[in-house]
Amino acid sequence: MQYRKMPAKINTSIGGIKLNSCIFVASGAKDETLPGLATIAQSSSAAVTMKSCTLEPRLGNPEPRYVDLPNNSSINSMGLPNLGYKEYIKYAKILKDKYKKIVIASISGMTLEDNIIMFKAFNNSAVDIIEFNPGSPNTIGKPIVGYDFAEMDRLLKAVTKICRKPWGVKLPPYFDFVHFETMAKILKKYPLQFITTINSIGNALVIDPKKEQTVIKPKGGFGGLGGAYTKYTALANVRKFYELLGDKIKTIGVGGVTTGVDAFEFILAGASAVQIATTYLREGPECFSRIQRELIAYMNKKGYKSIEEFRGKLKTL
Ligand code: DHB
Repeated sequence: MQYRKMPAKINTSIGGIKLNSCIFVASGAKDETLPGLATIAQSSSAAVTMKSCTLEPRLGNPEPRYVDLPNNSSINSMGLPNLGYKEYIKYAKILKDKYKKIVIASISGMTLEDNIIMFKAFNNSAVDIIEFNPGSPNTIGKPIVGYDFAEMDRLLKAVTKICRKPWGVKLPPYFDFVHFETMAKILKKYPLQFITTINSIGNALVIDPKKEQTVIKPKGGFGGLGGAYTKYTALANVRKFYELLGDKIKTIGVGGVTTGVDAFEFILAGASAVQIATTYLREGPECFSRIQRELIAYMNKKGYKSIEEFRGKLKTL
């Protein structure tokens, strides 16, 4: 029998939950409805991340509210359209029973009180992991919560008291080292197991020069930038938080991953897993197996057998 090298493994774990691959869908990508979630469950995405939910159902912002941009990028101002948290508690059970997948809930209450009610309810649900998303950039009349450090502290303190599932927090991008340090100090006070970085780059503006108008309707055209345009900001956020938090709080990278080599870069910067949104919306569910294959091929070429062999080991000049 011909000797063949074992292919690289790309398994990981988040909050003590084992994932057979470090590549999975980000919250917010065609994951509001049960059919949408079932499509993800049947793909190679290592987990099914559900749409950020609120206490009550929401229709979200007026359309057009999601537009593809050149260079595998996107702008959105969805405005948290979702069916209300009770539906996602039901869906988690259905997804787990039928597809045996890891299910991640995303909780995005409008107030502290709403978040408390939802965290209590999800404690008794089938979800494996909870990603707390304190703020979308697209809620009309609300600032981005991740930039209000005192409010973040208050919210994380409240979640700590209630949450009995493995949990982490989704963060907006930061740009100043002082802000990274301030946020890291707050995060270290609480027992969360991971951060997910970055949320879309808030309040970007895309202009159609022919029509001389904005491309999305809500908020005068301002919306969250996603996809490849965000990759270098996302890598910087993964790296800086990895430097500040080490492995005490794991980092999930998200922002502009379109290839397996992009995923490799995120892991090299310190990410324990990588989420995909814009690429999934553009390419469909095959993107997960493609990116996984590409990551494995790149690791094979480099002689890495697991992601732990190179995770965080970025060299500097
Ligand atoms: C929405 C956008 C986000 O970036 C987010 O984190 C949550 C919700 C939205 O517009 O629906």
